[in-house]
Amino acid sequence: MKTYTNVKDLGDLQKAVQEALEVKKNRFAYKHLGENKTLLMVFFNSSLRTRLSTQKAGMNLGMNTIVLDVNQGAWKLETERGVIMDGDKSEHLLEAIPVMGSYCDLIGVRSFAGLQDKTFDYNETILNQFIEHSGKPVFSMEAATGHPLQAFADLITIEEHKRTARPKVVMTWAPHPRALPQAVPNSFADFMNEADVDFVITHPKGYELDEKFVRGARVEYDQMKALEGADFVYAKNWSAYRDPHYGQIINTDRNWTVGQRQMAVTNNAFFMHCLPVRRNMIVTDDVIESPQSLVIPEAANREISAQVVLKRMLETM
Ligand code: CP
Repeated sequence: MKTYTNVKDLGDLQKAVQEALEVKKNRFAYKHLGENKTLLMVFFNSSLRTRLSTQKAGMNLGMNTIVLDVNQGAWKLETERGVIMDGDKSEHLLEAIPVMGSYCDLIGVRSFAGLQDKTFDYNETILNQFIEHSGKPVFSMEAATGHPLQAFADLITIEEHKRTARPKVVMTWAPHPRALPQAVPNSFADFMNEADVDFVITHPKGYELDEKFVRGARVEYDQMKALEGADFVYAKNWSAYRDPHYGQIINTDRNWTVGQRQMAVTNNAFFMHCLPVRRNMIVTDDVIESPQSLVIPEAANREISAQVVLKRMLETM
């Protein structure tokens, strides 16, 4: 595997999940693969889970890891070509990337959508520059339009907890005080569309996601109707994707917060969220603290999804 940016990079998804479950049983079995290999993790944005779980996955595989927080101690980077660099940015990404590539064997990149320029975001301009200019295998640690390590961990978690062969999985929009990217819901939709699940998306009108990720999945604007009989409730906020409101908050209706009222119409569903989560905006205290909440095992599976991706990259070097 040379890149990991979306579900297609995993090939047969069922096989990838089975591989993940095997890795989870003995996560140190592949320690030889990473001997004398260096993982570089580049963060343009904050992280708790991705940082720790990916570093741990690299360590499980015997790798050395280096972490660069671009906004803390590195030179301020220019990302656009053709700019006259007479401002506060001292280095261009086009020099920085091959330099970073020279110090490592694999590179993970976290670079969120800026939500100002849809074309820049949806072209995955920064991630693709790493793929093009680093000379090393590159994986997304959440880029502008996707978070495939998260969605893979979500699928592993669903596989571990499902009570029927084809569970109903409902992704619901929920309110949030800040405009958030569409990366997590995009990737979750991408993965659910490939998985053997009955997938439904619910959100207020105006929050339609890119059809490239929705791929014809059922969209139900009535949240309560969508949640009826759900086996898994996946809550997430995102900002508007469609023009002219790209990147904006267009609804703050707290009736969409996932609480007991919503969970009561489900099939005793499990609650999922990628974290970090704003309590009593996205989900009520009682739902996230309930026995049906999977947020902690879901986060723990981030180590496993990362390890499968790193393992596959090391195996094909
Ligand atoms: N879910 C997730 O990616 O968490 P972090 O932003 O803390 O890495």
